[in-house]
Amino acid sequence: MRLTRYFMPVLRENPAEAQIVSHRLMLRAGMIKQNAAGIYSWLPLGFKVLRKLENIVHEEQIRAGHVPMLMPTMQSADLWRESGRYDAYGPEMLRIRDRQDRDMLFGPTNEEMITDIFRSHVSSYKDLPLTLYHIQWKFRDEMRPRFGVMRGREFFMKDGYNFDLTKEDALHAYNRHLVSYLRTYERMGLQAIPMRADSGPIGGDDTHEFLVLADTGESEVFYDSAVTDLTFGDRDIDYDSVAQCQGVMEEFTNLYARTDETHDQALFDAIPAERQRKARGIEVGQIFYFGTKYSDAMGAKVQGPDGKPTAVHMGSHGIGVSRLVGAIIEASHDDKGIIWPEGVTPFHCGIVNLKQGDAEADAACDALYTSLRALGLDPLYDDRKERAGGKFATMDLIGLPWRITVGPRGLKNGVVELTSRKSGESVEMPPEQAVEKIASIYATHHVTGNL
Ligand SMILES: Nc1ncnc2c1ncn2[C@@H]1O[C@H](COP(=O)(O)OP(=O)(O)O)[C@@H](O)[C@H]1O
Ligand SMILES: [Mg+2]
Repeated sequence: MRLTRYFMPVLRENPAEAQIVSHRLMLRAGMIKQNAAGIYSWLPLGFKVLRKLENIVHEEQIRAGHVPMLMPTMQSADLWRESGRYDAYGPEMLRIRDRQDRDMLFGPTNEEMITDIFRSHVSSYKDLPLTLYHIQWKFRDEMRPRFGVMRGREFFMKDGYNFDLTKEDALHAYNRHLVSYLRTYERMGLQAIPMRADSGPIGGDDTHEFLVLADTGESEVFYDSAVTDLTFGDRDIDYDSVAQCQGVMEEFTNLYARTDETHDQALFDAIPAERQRKARGIEVGQIFYFGTKYSDAMGAKVQGPDGKPTAVHMGSHGIGVSRLVGAIIEASHDDKGIIWPEGVTPFHCGIVNLKQGDAEADAACDALYTSLRALGLDPLYDDRKERAGGKFATMDLIGLPWRITVGPRGLKNGVVELTSRKSGESVEMPPEQAVEKIASIYATHHVTGNL
């Protein structure tokens, strides 16, 4: 993309309404525009990041054996009356009446709808196990939408639902989700710690929330500092192996890590004092096992091996895709702007032309741009007639991990400059070498869907 042909409405001033850094930077970098309280348009740069996160979620869900689909945003109230949640859900549910006077709602989640789909089409235990998921817009009429996309009213969420014959099988599905979530967040450059949590209106006993530690997080958390040493890395996991998934679950949940709702002071005090941590965190996902709560209420039964009808064991599992954009920025920025992890960056690198209009500099930038694109990479070329300082400030603000700076002086010696956004370090090298370097960096990150 050439910046002169793009739409990236960068703001010079700090927007007054933004209380936290991610909200401020997303507005300043021209990633989002608020349309109503807690409702945002995703401008081109923000949309690119959102799609990258969505693609990572899809890839990791499919890797775990889960099946993608898409359900509508609008739902019929009747389904929710069956489960008893139409009344229980309260004012967070946006209720709408259509022209036929039917009660509708903008879905805050999809347990009822997926259970209805399941009971219409699945009747035998032989069709299990089954996990279906979708990534779709949700609406919750939050009392206090705030912090930009972190607590919106309309937000983008992956929600998945497992259907299993037995509790044992459903707990394997729970563990499988836990493992796939660990991989997902790590690919986004994040550490998200599974913490024992409270099940809230979904119901059920087993639930973990995934939290990214950040001072601006809305949850209060208590943990053993040893949990922050755990990393999933690139280990190979057989998602069908009950033992392997359970092993990872135990490794990542045995140490003390809880949100304030389930915090147990006596257990916390038993941790060596130097490892006790009290902090704040951003909830970026949650997994639940809730047994037969919905299948009982809505008659989702299959014929078991003994020929008798039996209610299926279920769980639901969510990732806050739009919230993650903010969470990643909270975890990765400095006073100049965003610092995107390579796995989610909107463009792989920036090209800054120090002297737009200079025939040699323009030709060198065009050549770089073309060779990067030929390798499947997605550069952003700042081809504006602007001063170098302004161009650098924009690149720093929007946070691309790598910048190639091209100027007449360097070109005389046959070099351009490659700069790391994170370390600020610059190295001079011939343009071909800069292209190679960038290609090799991204070879270890699957390059998903350039838009
Ligand atoms: N208002 C919101 N704005 C943005 N993301 C949200 C919002 N509410 C929930 N999410 C995200 O969706 C994920 C799954 O939702 P869920 O666990 O049902 O939410 P909650 O715990 O807030 O009831 C959460 O972990 C969070 O990341
Ligand atoms: Mg939750």
